[in-house]
Amino acid sequence: MEIKIYNFKQMGDERGTLVPIEAGIDIPFPIKRVYYMYGTGRGVRRGLHAHKTLQQVLICVHGTCKILLDDGNEKAIVELNQPYHGLYIRENIWREMFDFSEDAVLMVLASDHYKEEDYIRDYDEFLRSAKAGYWEDGD
Ligand code: TYD
Repeated sequence: MEIKIYNFKQMGDERGTLVPIEAGIDIPFPIKRVYYMYGTGRGVRRGLHAHKTLQQVLICVHGTCKILLDDGNEKAIVELNQPYHGLYIRENIWREMFDFSEDAVLMVLASDHYKEEDYIRDYDEFLRSAKAGYWEDGD
C-alpha cells in the first residue's frame, strides 16, 4: 500500500520552530475542518471506520500514536512521532488509531465538514466498497 507522509517545512530559529501548512500547497485539498484529540486513555482504539469521499491529513502535534491503515487488500501501521509529519489518508481507507502516549495530541485536517453519511462503520461493507473501487480502477 502506498503510504504518503508529508514532511512539512520547519521554520526554526533561536525562538523555536513554526510549521506552516497551506491548503492546496502543502496538502492536496482545501481544508474545511480541523479537529484534534487529546487525553486519550491507555489501550483506547479510535477511528474504526472508512470514509466514502473524505480526505484527511493526520498530524501528531505532540506525543506519539500509531495508525493502522487498511485498503481492503493490505494493512500497514504507521507511527506518528514528529510534529512536522502529516499522514495523508485518501477516501476508502479503513483506519484505527491506537497506542496514544499520555501527552499525545492528534490533529486532523479534513477536506469536508462532518457528515455522518460519509462514514463506513461496518468492516464488511468497507471491504465490499474497497473491492468495488479496485474493480472500477481496473485492478
Ligand atoms: P468519533 O467519530 O467517535 O471519533 P473517532 O472516529 O476519531 O474515534 O467522534 C467522537 C464524537 O465527536 C462523536 O460524537 C462525533 C463527534 N464529532 C463531531 O462532532 N465532529 C467531528 O468533526 C468529528 C470527527 C466528531
